[in-house]
Amino acid sequence: MRTIVVTGAASGMGAATKERLEADGHRVIGMDRQETDVVADLGTPEGRAAAVAAVQERVGDRLDGIVTAAGVFGFPGGVGDVVVSVNYFGTVALLDALRPLLARGTDPAAVVVSSNSITTNPSALRAVTDACLAGDEDKARTVANEAGASACYPASKVAVTWWARRNSPAWAADGITLNTIVPGLIHTPMVEQIRADERIGPLFDQVPIPVGRLGRPDEIASAAAFLLGPGARYICGSTLFVDGGTDALVRPDDPQPNWA
Ligand SMILES: NC(=O)c1ccc[n+]([C@@H]2O[C@H](COP(=O)([O-])OP(=O)(O)OC[C@H]3O[C@@H](n4cnc5c(N)ncnc54)[C@H](O)[C@@H]3O)[C@@H](O)[C@H]2O)c1
Repeated sequence: MRTIVVTGAASGMGAATKERLEADGHRVIGMDRQETDVVADLGTPEGRAAAVAAVQERVGDRLDGIVTAAGVFGFPGGVGDVVVSVNYFGTVALLDALRPLLARGTDPAAVVVSSNSITTNPSALRAVTDACLAGDEDKARTVANEAGASACYPASKVAVTWWARRNSPAWAADGITLNTIVPGLIHTPMVEQIRADERIGPLFDQVPIPVGRLGRPDEIASAAAFLLGPGARYICGSTLFVDGGTDALVRPDDPQPNWA
């Protein structure tokens, strides 16, 4: 039995991942702003500190895994600050704070849930990604509010994906695998909300999905279970698209060779 933290555990992919890992016999500590073991707002420094303290109280100084699925979507007209604070800073701050506990765990693994909007949504704004990766949350929130929530969602997910890839070698040196799952359209409450929005719902219904259907939350849970498990110990810094083939359709020639 391993001890694993799952954020966003009250809904969608996080809830499915918690359920799957518990069914596999693990101890799972759910974290969310509502209805789970540790209730905390990962969008604020105070909430993150409370979340870390609550995990430490439960597990002591060792943790074997974490899956970060908490996230908010960026609807048109919405503010960007909450999008970067939850999707990027909430994720990264929690991972950084729990890294020493993971380093003392057994075959420790961290799995970040990103989004295939990183490659399929052309509105991602590089300035927002750069502001996140620079690590100054106040400044990033200002840039995000100038950009608006729609451009911030994919930009925040690019930032968290690059952060994971950039940090994975150092984490591997501590014995921790750090990988990213990149979901496509998955049938969760978030996607139901998006599809019900008359401005963007029709666009989402036109996203080409080669396998011919939306994904299910349990299909993300099984990818997370694999990346946390013994069969994935040599996987480090990977970006695993679980999107029914959308990214392959849109960008068939990635990964790029380093011709130079
Ligand atoms: N559903 C999709 O098609 C899709 C596609 C790509 C990526 N994603 C990403 O996958 C992840 C899971 O999404 P989902 O579809 O399961 O969404 P969901 O809305 O069903 O679940 C997200 C969970 O995150 C929690 N959360 C939001 N803000 C929080 C905060 N400040 N502090 C703590 N918890 C907070 C919510 O309470 C909720 O339980 C998200 O990061 C999302 O951006 C979703």
